[in-house]
Amino acid sequence: MPYTRITGLGHYVPEQVITNQYLSTLMDTTDEWITERTGIKERRWIDPAKDTVANMAAKAARMALERAGLKETDIEFIVFATITPDYFFPGSGVLLQRELGLEGIGALDIRNACSGFIYALSVADQYIRTGTYKTILVIGAEIQSTALDVTTRGRNTAVIFGDGAGAAIVQASARPGVLSTHLHADGRFAEELYVRDPGSSRPREERQPEQILDTTHYKVVMNGNQVFKHAIVRFSEAIEEALAANNLNINDLSLLIPHQANLRISQYIQQKMNLNNNQVYNNIMRYGNTTAASIPIAMSEAWAEGKIRENDVICLAAFGSGFTWASALIRW
Ligand code: COA
Repeated sequence: MPYTRITGLGHYVPEQVITNQYLSTLMDTTDEWITERTGIKERRWIDPAKDTVANMAAKAARMALERAGLKETDIEFIVFATITPDYFFPGSGVLLQRELGLEGIGALDIRNACSGFIYALSVADQYIRTGTYKTILVIGAEIQSTALDVTTRGRNTAVIFGDGAGAAIVQASARPGVLSTHLHADGRFAEELYVRDPGSSRPREERQPEQILDTTHYKVVMNGNQVFKHAIVRFSEAIEEALAANNLNINDLSLLIPHQANLRISQYIQQKMNLNNNQVYNNIMRYGNTTAASIPIAMSEAWAEGKIRENDVICLAAFGSGFTWASALIRW
């Protein structure tokens, strides 16, 4: 049975840098508040005239292909994690497939928010192990900025989220790469972090354009305290579960790449698990929380900075809307 290895990583973030200072001109907030509570200094927002989820993903994919020494036509299947697709339907996978000129290959969308990339990697891992495909493109890409309420009313979420895309090429290999993935969810907390509409279970009148203009149901709603409390528990559980399943312990871990939810969450996990600064990768300071894109962007940057080396044990861990949480343990 073949193993799954990540053979190329890439990322793309929009050019437009949005500083905390700029946000304080839109809403009642300060650089100090945002930095202290979230660790974020700036994030990228798209220019709607230039960027789409699919074309950002294509740029990330091309970087990953180049680093893997492959060409577009080597890709046999696409797994695309996003909760912010360019259209309500069809999903982003088919739009990316079109961008890459790969008509005919399968394209699957995953909607598991901040855990989306690990869910997507897990799906790709199953296809590789069963021999269905040998080369799969796994994407996490999001445009959050256009769904944010950038007035004072939405300040608890508007300061957190950003846009971007990350890509991984996964391939069949004789030597282990992805050692395990573990996926979890608890739907009892669905409304603690969500965008309600365009939900289908509404009276027809509520889905008419004049009603839509009037509602906040298209904006991100988050119960920050509740999310924080659950995140710190589930992140730790996910990491411990991954290590235990592979008979490893925390000292075997070369690098933890957590979903970039909030720097305070990462720091809490680091302290609780006794990890040193070199064992945890964070870039939330520059990009904010890019949901499904955060892990592949972070992996791509960590790799480019020489922080992921052959034989390293890398743990990916995520928590987010759903609630969902997940881990992947990888021997590089
Ligand atoms: N600027 C200034 N003040 C703000 C603010 C902002 N951007 N957002 C909220 N506040 C205010 C609140 O209105 C509140 O004011 P009040 O005391 O007068 O009512 C005060 O700050 C404290 O709000 P609270 O929500 O209790 O703050 P907090 O310490 O919990 O921090 C979060 C808020 C959102 C930063 C924090 O809850 C958090 O990080 N949660 C996890 C979020 C997360 O990771 N989400 C992604 C999951 S994938």
